[in-house]
Amino acid sequence: MNTGIIIFSNTNHTLSVGERLLAEIGKLGGQAALQRVSAVNPDPNSNDPVVLKEAPDLSPYGYIILGSPVHAFSLPQVMATYLKQLPALNGAKVACFVTQQFPKPWMGGNRALGQMTKLVTALGGVATQTAVVNWSSKKREAQIDELVQRFCKAASEDIAR
Ligand SMILES: Cc1cc2nc3c(=O)[nH]c(=O)nc-3n(C[C@H](O)[C@H](O)[C@H](O)COP(=O)(O)O)c2cc1C
Repeated sequence: MNTGIIIFSNTNHTLSVGERLLAEIGKLGGQAALQRVSAVNPDPNSNDPVVLKEAPDLSPYGYIILGSPVHAFSLPQVMATYLKQLPALNGAKVACFVTQQFPKPWMGGNRALGQMTKLVTALGGVATQTAVVNWSSKKREAQIDELVQRFCKAASEDIAR
């Protein structure tokens, strides 16, 4: 099964986790591609309506991994705008993760993740795995290792089917 790793990232934290996932799925013998979501205006503090620059098509993928930072205790408008304009996901399996600066998931990460999975579910996707990476936490590397292992296990189960 082809895995799509779909990443919105301003300062490359989320992207670096996406790259770890891409490498690991490759090692497991799976097929995966990493694609970026981006806006024409890259300023994360802009209040202008989001115009998407990169909005990947998810139809080639049987398993989708979505990654985003947390902005202002929420899912960033860029990722929300991207998800809202997608066609129906028709039961596709979707894993979601967010990266955030603060050390605890309740400091915005859980909320952003909840917004992300709600949008995925509204599209008819099935949110399977979720994870929060707390960038300033001492546990960051352990969190990333655990995320990569768990998400890739789900991808390899799909490969085996
Ligand atoms: C505009 C803005 C708002 C942010 N708000 C939060 C927040 O509410 N909680 C938090 O933990 N981190 C917050 N951050 C930090 C980012 O979520 C964190 O650094 C993330 O890992 C960045 O990911 P990226 O490098 O993939 O863009 C914010 C960053 C920006 C630019």
